[in-house]
Amino acid sequence: MTLKNKKILIIVGGGIAAYKALDLIRLLKKNNVIIKTILTKSGREFVTPLSITTLTKSKTFEDMFDKNSEAEIDHISLSRWADLIIVLPTTANFMTKLSLGKAEDLATTVLLASNKDILLVPAMNVRMWLHKATQKNLNILQDYGYHFIGPEKGEMACGEYGEGKMSSPRQIFVYLKNYFHQKNLVKNKNLKALITTGPTREYLDPVRYISNESSGKQGYELALALKRLGVKTKLITGPTNLTHGNDLKIKKIISAKEMMDEVKKSLPVDIAICAAAVSDFKPIRKSKTKIKRKNFNEKNITLEKNPDILDYLSKNNKARPGVVVGFSAETENVIHNSITKIKEKHCDLIIANDVSRKSFGFNSDYNKVSIIDKNGKIKFIPKNKKSYIANIIAKIILDKLLVNDKNFN
Ligand code: C5P
Repeated sequence: MTLKNKKILIIVGGGIAAYKALDLIRLLKKNNVIIKTILTKSGREFVTPLSITTLTKSKTFEDMFDKNSEAEIDHISLSRWADLIIVLPTTANFMTKLSLGKAEDLATTVLLASNKDILLVPAMNVRMWLHKATQKNLNILQDYGYHFIGPEKGEMACGEYGEGKMSSPRQIFVYLKNYFHQKNLVKNKNLKALITTGPTREYLDPVRYISNESSGKQGYELALALKRLGVKTKLITGPTNLTHGNDLKIKKIISAKEMMDEVKKSLPVDIAICAAAVSDFKPIRKSKTKIKRKNFNEKNITLEKNPDILDYLSKNNKARPGVVVGFSAETENVIHNSITKIKEKHCDLIIANDVSRKSFGFNSDYNKVSIIDKNGKIKFIPKNKKSYIANIIAKIILDKLLVNDKNFN
């Protein structure tokens, strides 16, 4: 994968590792990357604008209200210009500013205004990195969709040893090659995904229905995560309280039958994720009028099985998606039951969900899941925001689809 003509904005932060930004710039320039740079006020304590400009052969941006810079390119255009923005080094203080959403100088304003992927490259003392405040910021920033590389374990400039050392320019370079390679593949292959989410409603009469407590949040976050990776994504959702942004293609349905019809219409796709809590049963008949108490008899609620959408997709000989993912909401024997399910439903991955507690899972912003593949390999993800978990699942799915590609290195 060549990085030729990729546009990268490098924000040089204020830490001793700032000098390594110069090495990275040289490496990227040698590979014909088009670079613009912002040097923060504390970054200036470690490297000079002159050394950066000498390497980039272009102006180093510094101040928010510099009339000359704004005339050349205003801060909003600068935030949209790049294919990727890198902050290097990312200090503990800078992470705090970003997690608070500050826009107090050119660097933070550009980052807040950007609609591009942002790669943070932390470098700090091991105690600072492991401090609860920094780890909390890390979670917030991952939730916001920032990408991270490092920090690595090693000896630091302060003489201490541990996790906090900045990834080397070479490691960052390899990361960038993989990053752009994956972006290109997704784009060239025109990858498409469908995601089912939320509950379904099965009406007994015009006002009464069978349903469940699914909030639809995990499926919604998955749709956003895949979209961010460049996949064309369609979300098929049962009734939820979520307000969806305009940036997703969404089809709202009510019943399992409608969900199945919409899934069939959406094929072929490369990725199918069944995150919906589909009602397993539905009344055989729906009364046209509200069932009166005095007329009620048990025939009014005779149930039949709904179609199994996940099963339909996994066993679809004509248009089976490349990766089919199911969810398994269990209150006991979570792993065992999920492994059984993956075998029964022939899907590629199962996201096993413990719904026995209120603090995560159904209706919560948090989840705690195990990702299980059909060979029985298990990746456990401790309790975290559903958005964070969605990013991890989305990356695993793309790896599954793309990693065998011969061009990947
Ligand atoms: O068998 P069980 O309902 O526990 O399986 C859960 C998985 O199957 C989830 O991925 C859910 O979205 C999917 N499912 C489905 N259609 C159904 C029932 C479940 O797609 N009718």
